Amino acid sequence: MRLSRRGFLTLAASLSAGFTAAAYGADAPGPSDAVKTTANTTYRTPQISGVVQRCPDLGIPMPTTPPPGVTFSRVPVTDQYVAMTFDDGPHPQNTPRLLDMLRERNIRATFYVIGRNVDLYPAVARRVVAEGHEIGNHSYTHRSLTTLGDAAMRDEIRKTQDAVLRATGVLPRTLRPPYGAFRQNQRQAIYTDMGLPTILWSVDPLDWKRPGPAIVSQRILAGVTPGAIVLSHDLHSQTVDAMPATLDALMLKGYKFLSVSQLIAMKGGDGTPATTVAAPATH
Ligand code: NI
Repeated sequence: MRLSRRGFLTLAASLSAGFTAAAYGADAPGPSDAVKTTANTTYRTPQISGVVQRCPDLGIPMPTTPPPGVTFSRVPVTDQYVAMTFDDGPHPQNTPRLLDMLRERNIRATFYVIGRNVDLYPAVARRVVAEGHEIGNHSYTHRSLTTLGDAAMRDEIRKTQDAVLRATGVLPRTLRPPYGAFRQNQRQAIYTDMGLPTILWSVDPLDWKRPGPAIVSQRILAGVTPGAIVLSHDLHSQTVDAMPATLDALMLKGYKFLSVSQLIAMKGGDGTPATTVAAPATH
């Protein structure tokens, strides 16, 4: 989730519960849900009706080590490849609903999970990995890394690596900082010491503002170019509602879907390796 800093501060100040409630929004799992919820999800897969276009199997291996590069926000390829990324989950209903949509279409995506949510909903995280998606690190509590000292920053990242490993048996290979915010030295330390490239994005539909599924879809379709990394949030039901039309339209345009690690491992269309691209402005 991303909030403008001013918006966040206003919201945080207005809520006695502080950061957690502000950062997670109304439809998110909160601490009280954690106490009440014993099963991992109440969502049930509906009967699928009609024919859905499927992405062909691409036969592109998932790399085991990341390519050189501290930060990526897109990859300069000429073929129509795109990486869809979904942040702030796992969510007990929205994430399984999105997973159904991706499975129907044979589409692989990347989920930047919050470690605390993985601890709340480990079975959903397990399903993400079991269905061939990539899982990435989005910190443990979604605090802006810029507010943290070195030890606290490493703790946020390490605890999420541990939570994902416990739940899924795999370790995240890349990191997306909450709000896309970091200090230069943090980004370098995360890469050098922890082996995690920082992944930003080239397309931001501002879906966390909940503009409605049609607008989310329209903004993504307008923004995607070959090698794009699309930011969105499976935390929000509107974003998930936008996905069938968005994914189907991208497929009709000829796009094929890769995980972030697959995309950043690709050579550019001119034979040059994928390179570090300057980070977009964040708010
Ligand atoms: Ni986020």
